[in-house]
Amino acid sequence: MKVIVDTPEGIAKQAAAIYKEILADKPNAVLGFATGSTPLDLYAELIRLYEAGEISFKDVTTFNLDEYVGLEPTHDQSYRYFMDTNLFNHIDLDPANTHVPSGLDTSDEALAAYDAAIEAAGGEDLHILGIGVNGHIAFNKPGDPIDTMTHVVELTQNTREVNARFFDSIDDVPTHAVTMGIKSIMHARKIILIALGEAKADAIKAAVEGPVDPACPASVLQLHPDVTFFCDEGAASKLSL
Ligand code: PGA
Repeated sequence: MKVIVDTPEGIAKQAAAIYKEILADKPNAVLGFATGSTPLDLYAELIRLYEAGEISFKDVTTFNLDEYVGLEPTHDQSYRYFMDTNLFNHIDLDPANTHVPSGLDTSDEALAAYDAAIEAAGGEDLHILGIGVNGHIAFNKPGDPIDTMTHVVELTQNTREVNARFFDSIDDVPTHAVTMGIKSIMHARKIILIALGEAKADAIKAAVEGPVDPACPASVLQLHPDVTFFCDEGAASKLSL
Protein backbone atom coordinates (compact mmCIF):
# COMPACT_ATOMS: atom_id res chain seq x y z
CA MET A 1 0.00 0.00 0.00
CA LYS A 2 1.28 3.44 -0.95
CA VAL A 3 0.22 6.59 0.89
CA ILE A 4 0.64 9.94 -0.86
CA VAL A 5 -0.11 13.23 0.89
CA ASP A 6 -0.90 16.24 -1.29
CA THR A 7 -3.33 19.12 -1.62
CA PRO A 8 -6.81 18.28 -2.96
CA GLU A 9 -5.85 19.88 -6.31
CA GLY A 10 -2.57 17.96 -6.41
CA ILE A 11 -4.40 14.72 -5.63
CA ALA A 12 -6.86 15.29 -8.48
CA LYS A 13 -3.97 15.87 -10.89
CA GLN A 14 -1.92 12.88 -9.67
CA ALA A 15 -4.92 10.56 -9.75
CA ALA A 16 -5.95 11.79 -13.22
CA ALA A 17 -2.40 11.10 -14.43
CA ILE A 18 -2.89 7.46 -13.41
CA TYR A 19 -6.02 7.29 -15.61
CA LYS A 20 -4.07 8.86 -18.47
CA GLU A 21 -1.30 6.28 -18.12
CA ILE A 22 -3.72 3.34 -17.95
CA LEU A 23 -5.69 4.56 -20.98
CA ALA A 24 -2.51 5.15 -22.97
CA ASP A 25 -1.62 1.48 -22.41
CA LYS A 26 -5.14 0.14 -22.73
CA PRO A 27 -7.70 2.39 -24.46
CA ASN A 28 -10.48 -0.12 -23.71
CA ALA A 29 -9.74 -0.23 -19.98
CA VAL A 30 -12.43 -1.17 -17.47
CA LEU A 31 -12.78 1.56 -14.85
CA GLY A 32 -14.60 1.47 -11.53
CA PHE A 33 -16.10 4.74 -10.35
CA ALA A 34 -17.46 6.10 -7.09
CA THR A 35 -19.87 8.86 -6.12
CA GLY A 36 -19.64 11.29 -3.19
CA SER A 37 -17.97 14.67 -2.90
CA THR A 38 -14.44 13.26 -2.73
CA PRO A 39 -13.88 12.35 -6.41
CA LEU A 40 -15.44 15.54 -7.84
CA ASP A 41 -12.12 17.33 -8.37
CA LEU A 42 -10.73 14.22 -10.04
CA TYR A 43 -13.74 14.01 -12.36
CA ALA A 44 -13.35 17.69 -13.25
CA GLU A 45 -9.70 17.01 -14.05
CA LEU A 46 -10.59 14.00 -16.22
CA ILE A 47 -13.07 16.18 -18.13
CA ARG A 48 -10.36 18.82 -18.55
CA LEU A 49 -7.90 16.25 -19.90
CA TYR A 50 -10.58 14.97 -22.30
CA GLU A 51 -11.38 18.48 -23.52
CA ALA A 52 -7.66 19.12 -24.00
CA GLY A 53 -7.48 16.02 -26.20
CA GLU A 54 -5.11 14.27 -23.79
CA ILE A 55 -7.36 11.37 -22.89
CA SER A 56 -10.24 9.46 -24.48
CA PHE A 57 -12.88 7.20 -22.95
CA LYS A 58 -14.28 6.11 -26.31
CA ASP A 59 -13.59 2.41 -25.74
CA VAL A 60 -13.79 2.38 -21.94
CA THR A 61 -16.28 0.33 -19.91
CA THR A 62 -17.27 1.54 -16.44
CA PHE A 63 -18.79 0.03 -13.33
CA ASN A 64 -19.98 2.03 -10.35
CA LEU A 65 -19.83 0.94 -6.75
CA ASP A 66 -23.36 1.42 -5.56
CA GLU A 67 -26.87 2.77 -5.94
CA TYR A 68 -29.79 3.58 -3.68
CA VAL A 69 -32.62 1.05 -3.73
CA GLY A 70 -35.87 2.52 -5.01
CA LEU A 71 -34.54 5.56 -6.86
CA GLU A 72 -35.18 5.89 -10.58
CA PRO A 73 -31.96 6.46 -12.58
CA THR A 74 -33.32 9.93 -13.41
CA HIS A 75 -33.82 10.89 -9.72
CA ASP A 76 -31.43 13.73 -8.98
CA GLN A 77 -30.03 11.87 -5.95
CA SER A 78 -29.51 8.57 -7.74
CA TYR A 79 -25.89 7.65 -8.25
CA ARG A 80 -26.61 7.07 -11.96
CA TYR A 81 -27.70 10.70 -12.20
CA PHE A 82 -24.61 11.79 -10.25
CA MET A 83 -22.27 9.99 -12.64
CA ASP A 84 -24.07 11.21 -15.75
CA THR A 85 -24.05 14.83 -14.65
CA ASN A 86 -20.60 14.95 -13.03
CA LEU A 87 -18.62 12.88 -15.52
CA PHE A 88 -20.21 10.66 -18.13
CA ASN A 89 -22.12 13.35 -20.04
CA HIS A 90 -18.96 15.42 -20.41
CA ILE A 91 -16.63 12.84 -21.95
CA ASP A 92 -16.68 10.60 -25.02
CA LEU A 93 -17.81 7.53 -23.10
CA ASP A 94 -20.43 5.35 -24.80
CA PRO A 95 -23.44 5.38 -22.40
CA ALA A 96 -24.04 1.73 -23.31
CA ASN A 97 -20.69 0.88 -21.72
CA THR A 98 -21.50 2.47 -18.37
CA HIS A 99 -22.87 0.37 -15.54
CA VAL A 100 -24.40 1.46 -12.25
CA PRO A 101 -26.17 -1.18 -10.15
CA SER A 102 -29.92 -1.01 -10.60
CA GLY A 103 -31.77 0.40 -7.62
CA LEU A 104 -35.02 -0.92 -9.06
CA ASP A 105 -34.20 -4.55 -9.83
CA THR A 106 -32.43 -5.96 -6.79
CA SER A 107 -33.27 -9.60 -7.47
CA ASP A 108 -30.53 -12.16 -6.79
CA GLU A 109 -30.25 -12.59 -10.56
CA ALA A 110 -29.64 -8.86 -11.10
CA LEU A 111 -27.01 -8.74 -8.33
CA ALA A 112 -25.18 -11.78 -9.69
CA ALA A 113 -25.42 -10.34 -13.21
CA TYR A 114 -23.60 -7.18 -12.08
CA ASP A 115 -20.56 -9.14 -10.88
CA ALA A 116 -20.79 -11.37 -13.96
CA ALA A 117 -20.74 -8.31 -16.22
CA ILE A 118 -17.55 -7.05 -14.55
CA GLU A 119 -15.95 -10.43 -15.05
CA ALA A 120 -17.18 -10.69 -18.66
CA ALA A 121 -15.59 -7.28 -19.34
CA GLY A 122 -12.28 -8.73 -18.18
CA GLY A 123 -12.29 -7.36 -14.63
CA GLU A 124 -11.57 -3.81 -13.55
CA ASP A 125 -8.20 -2.27 -14.38
CA LEU A 126 -8.68 0.54 -11.88
CA HIS A 127 -11.21 1.38 -9.20
CA ILE A 128 -11.50 4.72 -7.43
CA LEU A 129 -12.80 4.75 -3.86
CA GLY A 130 -13.73 7.25 -1.20
CA ILE A 131 -13.89 6.32 2.48
CA GLY A 132 -16.55 7.00 5.10
CA VAL A 133 -15.77 8.58 8.46
CA ASN A 134 -16.37 5.11 9.91
CA GLY A 135 -14.02 3.43 7.44
CA HIS A 136 -16.72 2.19 5.11
CA ILE A 137 -15.99 1.64 1.43
CA ALA A 138 -18.99 1.89 -0.85
CA PHE A 139 -21.84 0.84 1.46
CA ASN A 140 -19.80 -1.90 3.18
CA LYS A 141 -20.05 -0.82 6.79
CA PRO A 142 -17.97 -1.73 9.83
CA GLY A 143 -18.55 -5.29 10.95
CA ASP A 144 -19.95 -6.50 7.63
CA PRO A 145 -18.44 -9.70 6.20
CA ILE A 146 -15.52 -8.99 3.89
CA ASP A 147 -16.05 -11.82 1.43
CA THR A 148 -19.10 -10.29 -0.24
CA MET A 149 -19.87 -9.65 -3.88
CA THR A 150 -22.58 -7.21 -5.02
CA HIS A 151 -25.44 -7.26 -2.52
CA VAL A 152 -28.22 -5.24 -0.87
CA VAL A 153 -27.54 -3.53 2.45
CA GLU A 154 -29.69 -1.70 4.94
CA LEU A 155 -28.27 1.78 5.48
CA THR A 156 -27.26 2.69 9.01
CA GLN A 157 -29.02 5.59 10.69
CA ASN A 158 -25.69 7.45 10.66
CA THR A 159 -25.21 7.02 6.91
CA ARG A 160 -28.78 8.18 6.28
CA GLU A 161 -28.17 11.22 8.50
CA VAL A 162 -24.90 12.05 6.72
CA ASN A 163 -26.62 11.75 3.32
CA ALA A 164 -29.82 13.57 4.39
CA ARG A 165 -28.26 16.88 3.36
CA PHE A 166 -28.90 15.94 -0.26
CA PHE A 167 -32.62 15.17 0.27
CA ASP A 168 -35.58 17.29 1.38
CA SER A 169 -35.74 15.39 4.67
CA ILE A 170 -34.22 12.28 6.25
CA ASP A 171 -37.48 10.45 5.54
CA ASP A 172 -36.70 10.76 1.84
CA VAL A 173 -33.30 9.07 2.19
CA PRO A 174 -33.63 5.48 0.97
CA THR A 175 -33.31 2.81 3.63
CA HIS A 176 -31.39 0.35 1.46
CA ALA A 177 -28.70 0.38 -1.20
CA VAL A 178 -27.05 -2.02 -3.60
CA THR A 179 -23.31 -2.12 -3.18
CA MET A 180 -20.38 -3.94 -4.66
CA GLY A 181 -18.97 -6.11 -1.90
CA ILE A 182 -15.44 -5.91 -0.53
CA LYS A 183 -14.54 -9.00 -2.50
CA SER A 184 -15.86 -7.52 -5.77
CA ILE A 185 -13.86 -4.33 -5.11
CA MET A 186 -10.69 -6.27 -4.22
CA HIS A 187 -10.81 -7.93 -7.66
CA ALA A 188 -9.82 -4.64 -9.32
CA ARG A 189 -6.23 -4.82 -10.50
CA LYS A 190 -5.42 -1.35 -9.17
CA ILE A 191 -7.21 0.68 -6.51
CA ILE A 192 -6.95 4.37 -5.65
CA LEU A 193 -8.59 5.64 -2.47
CA ILE A 194 -8.93 9.38 -1.93
CA ALA A 195 -9.56 10.89 1.50
CA LEU A 196 -10.02 14.61 2.06
CA GLY A 197 -10.47 16.46 5.33
CA GLU A 198 -9.78 15.92 9.00
CA ALA A 199 -13.11 14.15 9.48
CA LYS A 200 -11.52 11.19 7.66
CA ALA A 201 -8.34 11.13 9.80
CA ASP A 202 -9.45 8.37 12.19
CA ALA A 203 -10.73 6.21 9.34
CA ILE A 204 -7.45 6.66 7.44
CA LYS A 205 -5.36 5.81 10.50
CA ALA A 206 -7.37 2.63 11.08
CA ALA A 207 -7.27 1.71 7.38
CA VAL A 208 -3.54 2.28 6.92
CA GLU A 209 -1.99 1.54 10.32
CA GLY A 210 -4.58 -0.56 12.08
CA PRO A 211 -4.99 -4.32 11.82
CA VAL A 212 -6.89 -5.79 8.89
CA ASP A 213 -10.25 -5.91 10.60
CA PRO A 214 -13.85 -5.81 9.33
CA ALA A 215 -14.38 -3.13 12.01
CA CYS A 216 -12.68 -0.85 9.46
CA PRO A 217 -13.69 -2.17 6.02
CA ALA A 218 -11.03 -0.04 4.27
CA SER A 219 -8.29 -1.83 6.26
CA VAL A 220 -8.90 -4.88 4.06
CA LEU A 221 -7.25 -2.90 1.25
CA GLN A 222 -3.93 -3.60 2.99
CA LEU A 223 -4.24 -7.07 1.47
CA HIS A 224 -4.48 -5.69 -2.08
CA PRO A 225 -1.23 -5.79 -4.11
CA ASP A 226 -1.66 -2.39 -5.80
CA VAL A 227 -3.47 0.22 -3.75
CA THR A 228 -2.63 3.90 -3.35
CA PHE A 229 -4.18 6.12 -0.69
CA PHE A 230 -4.17 9.80 -1.64
CA CYS A 231 -4.77 11.91 1.48
CA ASP A 232 -4.81 15.63 2.04
CA GLU A 233 -3.11 16.95 5.17
CA GLY A 234 -6.30 16.75 7.22
CA ALA A 235 -7.03 13.15 6.33
CA ALA A 236 -3.37 12.20 6.92
CA SER A 237 -3.11 14.15 10.18
CA LYS A 238 -3.27 11.11 12.47
CA LEU A 239 -0.86 8.93 10.50
CA SER A 240 2.57 8.39 12.04
CA LEU A 241 4.28 9.06 8.67
P1 PGA B 1 -17.75 11.58 0.56
O1 PGA B 1 -18.21 10.10 0.83
O2 PGA B 1 -16.87 11.53 -0.65
O3 PGA B 1 -19.01 12.35 0.26
O4 PGA B 1 -17.03 12.06 1.77
C1 PGA B 1 -17.23 9.10 0.80
C2 PGA B 1 -17.84 7.78 1.20
O5 PGA B 1 -18.77 7.76 2.02
O6 PGA B 1 -17.35 6.76 0.70
